[in-house]
Amino acid sequence: MRDAAAYLLERTPVRPRIAVVLGSGLGAFAGELTGRTEVPYAEIPGWPPSTAVGHAGRLVFGRLEGVEIAVMAGRAHLYEGYTPAQVTFGVRTLGALGVKGFVFTNAAGGINLSYSQGALVLISDHINLQGVNPLVGPNDESLGPRFPDMSEAYSKSWRATAKAVAAELGISMPEGVYAAMLGPSYETPAEIRYLRVIGADLVGMSTVPEVIAANHMGLKCLAVSCVTNMAAGILDQKISHEEVLETGQRVRGTLVRFLKALLPRLEV
Ligand code: HPA
Repeated sequence: MRDAAAYLLERTPVRPRIAVVLGSGLGAFAGELTGRTEVPYAEIPGWPPSTAVGHAGRLVFGRLEGVEIAVMAGRAHLYEGYTPAQVTFGVRTLGALGVKGFVFTNAAGGINLSYSQGALVLISDHINLQGVNPLVGPNDESLGPRFPDMSEAYSKSWRATAKAVAAELGISMPEGVYAAMLGPSYETPAEIRYLRVIGADLVGMSTVPEVIAANHMGLKCLAVSCVTNMAAGILDQKISHEEVLETGQRVRGTLVRFLKALLPRLEV
């Protein structure tokens, strides 16, 4: 990942302090940057190519209201068969390149009955049920400690800023706990009842490995879920990937508006 970081520093004059990682169907935001350098993942040494539908697979550098940022449009998921090291490669590369914090977006199923389809929810904390952790194995002390603290995995100050920005824009944005499942099958209704009992408000298949890797490196995280569907068993209907992508498309304008207002306000 240090090779990848060195390669990228040669490809672009942009020196991002913050990076945005875009989830399923939420790739539109990259087009908002000015002075763009677009690098397809396939051209970056060691970068795992993305395979999921709705993921463009490129790293975009540029400026937003004068702030230099990087956008990962498309991410690798464990359910695609990537190793935890591959899933966190992008975050670690951007960390090596000088990024101090990440804003993640993802698609999630809503478990909390007060959410409606299309809602944006700020992740306050997570429950890792993926059965793996990207820090398993010998610890690279140059990245971070063997046993990193996770008691503020999602930065309190960035969450406060995000809530203020959402309120100013008139976007309702409750907080919730995100449960990460391995996937790729959606959950059963019984699994959703279980997740509700253990304190989850949202369920998804991404973000948590990246947040663990970023926290390991001492980098700030903020994450926003788009509730693309109500979780299994809540409504009397099946969950489909098409529905997930459609809701993502429907909400992306609001999400872009939010990110544009938010990023210049985040202090690293
Ligand atoms: N479950 C898991 N992941 C998801 C869902 C879901 O219902 N919706 C979007 N990503």
